[in-house]
Amino acid sequence: MAGGEITVSNFKPELVTLDLKTYVMQPFRRGKQIKLSDLKEYFSDPEAADQILSEGKNPIIYEYYEYATPEAEGHLTFGVTTIYLGKVGKEYYMTRGHYHDKDAAEIYIGLSGRGLLLMQTKEGEAVYLDLKPGGIGYVPPGWGHRTINTSGEKLVFFFIYPSDAGHDYELVKERGFAKIVIEENGVPKVVDNPRF
Ligand code: F6R
Ligand code: ZN
Repeated sequence: MAGGEITVSNFKPELVTLDLKTYVMQPFRRGKQIKLSDLKEYFSDPEAADQILSEGKNPIIYEYYEYATPEAEGHLTFGVTTIYLGKVGKEYYMTRGHYHDKDAAEIYIGLSGRGLLLMQTKEGEAVYLDLKPGGIGYVPPGWGHRTINTSGEKLVFFFIYPSDAGHDYELVKERGFAKIVIEENGVPKVVDNPRF
């Protein structure tokens, strides 16, 4: 892995390998783990989150590793996200979710586990797709997106987006998504978000 900042002029192609058993991608240049304490106000039942935290637990909700390229027009960034299995209250573990700053699309490819790719426009039109191994979700430009693990195992998916897309988390912080995904009678259910 090259050290220092990756720029358009110093970038050189190299082979990246995704282990199809462990889903570890190497080399990666950027990794992030998001814990319950980072995400508690995004869940519809923050008291349930507080309860878990007050027991001295702060589980990792999800993590992602990216092969980051120059944040320049024409380049793509790709990587692997893993959402762990669990719930906060009735709501399944999920990513924070965001809109891209630019009109930039994204592709998600399910590798392991099952979940939902929830998307919505800024006007509140919502669509959700089943994300399962081999399932490909196309996020059109302008659609906010969040992924939810509804399975009894880790949900792992591959993603690709334009490197200069930019990430806007503010709108999701203010309003959340129009839908939330909860467990009811042992099965996942998509319901209206009462706080949207
Ligand atoms: C990038 C993208 C994914 C997510 C990742 C974590 O544009 O959509 O790589 O970034 O799944 O989700 P957030 O960024 O919402 O924490
Ligand atoms: Zn995105």
